[in-house]
Amino acid sequence: MDETIIRLEDGRLPALDRSGGLTDRMTRPLRDLRISVMDRCNFRCPYCMPEDKYHKDFQFLKSNERLFFDEILRLAQLFAGLGVNKLRITGGEPLLRPNLAELIGDLSRLDGIDDIALTTNGILLAQHAAALKAAGLSRVTVSLDSLDEAVFLQMSGGRGSRDRVLEGIAEAQAAGLAPIKVNAVIKRGINEHTVPELVAHFRGTGVIVRFIEYMDVGTINHWRESDTVPSRELLEMIGARWPLRPVQANYHGEVAERYAFEDGAGEIGFISSVSEPFCGSCTRARLSSDGQLFTCLFASTGTDLRGPLRAGATDDELRELVAGVWRMREDRYSELRAEQRQPEQKVEMYYIGG
Ligand code: GTP
Ligand code: 5AD
Ligand code: SF4
Ligand code: SF4
Repeated sequence: MDETIIRLEDGRLPALDRSGGLTDRMTRPLRDLRISVMDRCNFRCPYCMPEDKYHKDFQFLKSNERLFFDEILRLAQLFAGLGVNKLRITGGEPLLRPNLAELIGDLSRLDGIDDIALTTNGILLAQHAAALKAAGLSRVTVSLDSLDEAVFLQMSGGRGSRDRVLEGIAEAQAAGLAPIKVNAVIKRGINEHTVPELVAHFRGTGVIVRFIEYMDVGTINHWRESDTVPSRELLEMIGARWPLRPVQANYHGEVAERYAFEDGAGEIGFISSVSEPFCGSCTRARLSSDGQLFTCLFASTGTDLRGPLRAGATDDELRELVAGVWRMREDRYSELRAEQRQPEQKVEMYYIGG
């Protein structure tokens, strides 16, 4: 496989044919590739991998069913050639994948990629932060739904501890994996009362907390719209205590709406996929750990890239396959949800990352 990876003399990896101009049926370009490197997770968040389904006998992928690093690298190189400039490494829990820093190192040398972020639950972050930074990781986003230990455990399915996540964040800060973001999924009646504590804790630290509306991803979390706390409600509640002003997006299509504290203590964000869908500017593709390409977080089916890859497909063939899928793309699930139109089947979130 390695012979098809083209390296320049200085070790950099050129993007293959940055032809540009690739857009989907709604004229959205492909900019962001989210790569799941591990389907397993060491948490059992009830809204993602409930323990009763993901028990000790659950069949996760076998190692050789997951894409190998050289396969991921080859695909990333190809995606960079199609316009991707931003990579996000996800899971399950990506830090469960052995030697992840090696992959980050190679991805960071890819031409055309200017941002590599990692989404993690933070439990293994303290021990890996420095090596990830040295390998070329730009920044981390840590999932942390509450600082109240009992509520934290309720949200994580009884796994991990808030103090270990905080240690992970501290090590990531020390390593310079900035800006560090904290993602907090808010569920009505479960952790909404702990929102002020999260704001108070991270204000003034440089860490950007983003509140995520609980969504109907997958089929197993028994989502009801009444479980979602609309961002507007949280904005009003937080703004009443700490005055806020809206801030312009960092880039076109940014998922979070940004708000700065009037007193200069940093910023927070709101991700409102339920109350204010943002499909119109969605430039994200997702690659599962077994090499299926998904063009929406809520897709019911993906396109297998691992099969052709392992059967010896050329770069041109793979590029055409991916470009063809993107050209046909018309996903806008969150907008359809708002219009009360639902697909029958949806991929599970742990399998393709958030
Ligand atoms: P930045 O690169 O830091 O702007 O991060 P991001 O907002 O692109 O990525 P992140 O993975 O941190 O996204 C946070 C959360 O937003 C995810 O866990 C999802 O809950 C939600 N989200 C991200 N992308 C999408 C998307 O394409 N559709 C929907 N419906 N939700 C999304
Ligand atoms: N709704 C919103 N966000 C979710 N995440 C996982 N499941 C859901 C859901 N149902 C978030 C996690 C993490 C990221 C990977 O996705 O909390 O921040
Ligand atoms: Fe693991 Fe994240 Fe899913 Fe929780 S939400 S079970 S931490 S992948
Ligand atoms: Fe993109 Fe699908 Fe999310 Fe809409 S619902 S923003 S199309 S991933």
